Formats: sequence, C-alpha cells, structure tokens
Amino acid sequence: MQLLDGKLLSAQIKGEIAAEVAQIKAEGGKTPHLVAILVGNAGRSETYVASKMKSCEEVGMHSTLIRFEDDVTEEELLAKVQAVNENPDMDGLIVQLPLPPHINPDRVMEAIAPAKDVDGFHPINIGRMAKGLPAYVSATPQGILEMLKRYQIETSGKHCVVVGRSQIVGLPMSILMQRNDYPGNCTVTLTHSKTQNLAEICRSADILIAALGRPGFIKADMVKEGAVVIDVGLEKVADPTKKSGFALRGDVDFDAVAPKAGYITPVPGGVGLMTICSLMQNTVKAARREVY
Ligand code: GUN
Repeated sequence: MQLLDGKLLSAQIKGEIAAEVAQIKAEGGKTPHLVAILVGNAGRSETYVASKMKSCEEVGMHSTLIRFEDDVTEEELLAKVQAVNENPDMDGLIVQLPLPPHINPDRVMEAIAPAKDVDGFHPINIGRMAKGLPAYVSATPQGILEMLKRYQIETSGKHCVVVGRSQIVGLPMSILMQRNDYPGNCTVTLTHSKTQNLAEICRSADILIAALGRPGFIKADMVKEGAVVIDVGLEKVADPTKKSGFALRGDVDFDAVAPKAGYITPVPGGVGLMTICSLMQNTVKAARREVY
C-alpha cells in the first residue's frame, strides 16, 4: 500500500504557485486576488474559508474575506457578487456553501461571472468542462486529478466507481474520469443513495472515489485488493481518546481498508489540501485571463 500524500504534494504545489506569483509580480503583472464570501458560520465553513485565505497569503496572493450574517437577504448577497464581478482588482470569487435555507444557491452561483468562478460551479463552467472546453474545474475533482497525475497512476481502461453524486464533487468527478485524456479514459460508474448492490459495485472498482459524507462508510469488504482509494470525506466525529474530544474522519474506514488498497489517501492530509491548491491555481489562471 502506498499513501497518496496530500501534505507532501500540496507543499510542492504551493511552492510552484508561489514561484509563479513571484514571476508575475517581477514582470509587473498584478497580484492574483481571491475573494471569498462567507454567510454566517455554519459547520466547518469558517475553518475551510480561513484556510483558503491563509494559503493565498502564504503564496503571495491577495485574499479578501467578505462576511454576512445568516439573515442577509438574497438580494444583498447578489448585489455583493455583482460588485466583485465588476471590480477589476478582484480575479476570483467563491461563495462558500452551504448557504442558509432562504438563499437559493443556484441563483448565487449563476450570478458569479464565469471568468471569476474559480470554484467552477457556474453552469457555463460545468457545461464547458463536460464538453472538454477550457473551463474552471471544481477544485476537489481537479485536486484529485492532480494527485493521480503526480503519482503517475494508470487510469486508462480502468473501472472508476464514484460514490456520491454531489454537484461539486461526485458529478464533475464522474465526468472528468471518463473523458478522453489522462487522467481519464475510465469506465465510470456513478453511485448514490438509491444504488442497489453498492458493495458489489465498489468491489469491482480499480479506482474508488468516496464522496458521500458518511464517516467510515467504505469497509474493507467493499474494496478490491490493490485498488486506488480516494477519500473525499471529512467529518468531525467524537473521539474520547483524543485530547480535543474529537477526530476528523473520512468516508473510508482507513485502518481496515488501507492494508488491502494499492494506494489510499489519508484523512486529514489527503484530498482536502489538494482542493485548496486547485483553488489557488484557478485564481492564478483567472489573474492571467488564461481560461476566458
Ligand atoms: N463547501 C464545501 N466545499 C466547497 C467548495 O469547494 N467551494 C465552496 N464555495 N463551498 C464549499
């Protein structure tokens, strides 16, 4: 078993981004600038956004966090999105999800200018990605592709099973893994909560991508010997053996599955760190007008 080490890769990639940002500045270009909008402080959003902002600063990029209370109206939020769209100093914009129930996330995502949509959530970017046209690709799937590439994992002709059909991970991941390119050319099965014989399907996966948000769901008997196991889950669970009283767990029962896997991502220290790198890479592309 080999660990797919997100900590190691993300440190490498951050170094590459920092060098690129330094070069842009040396050539008199503008410093890439990421803007994040955070509404309220639900769940882990606060921590996620803080680490995105911190990572930008570490590589020499600008970052701005715009906060709203939970009771912000959709109109106020849309007005802010519009203001960022029109601000030439701001290159990339993300609105952290989930949003409070009175706000329609689709309306908000569609309001973001596709050229600043570094999360790749706008229907235009999703459509362009699906067609294989230049587009911003959702950060987590892009981070997983980067991981497969850097570990030179063979994907062509393999059976890739994606567990979870979320708009931001499962669905784009399934599209990317089937495309005629590396890493891709897989035969893809996209599974979800209504899938029958899920364990059997997972057992037939050469590459298993778990993105369903249920800690420890993937057990050893659901994994083929030698499979590549990618764990997108990240949940806080009670753990009395820890000083803090909790631990972070992925969707894969790591201790049971790791001995069977060919490659596996740890949680934490796996996919999550790659997601932030992809977001920064997209922001550099936005500053350079590479996609649009
Ligand atoms: N919530 C969970 N993951 C993400 C992400 O990648 N981007 C945004 N905007 N919200 C999220």
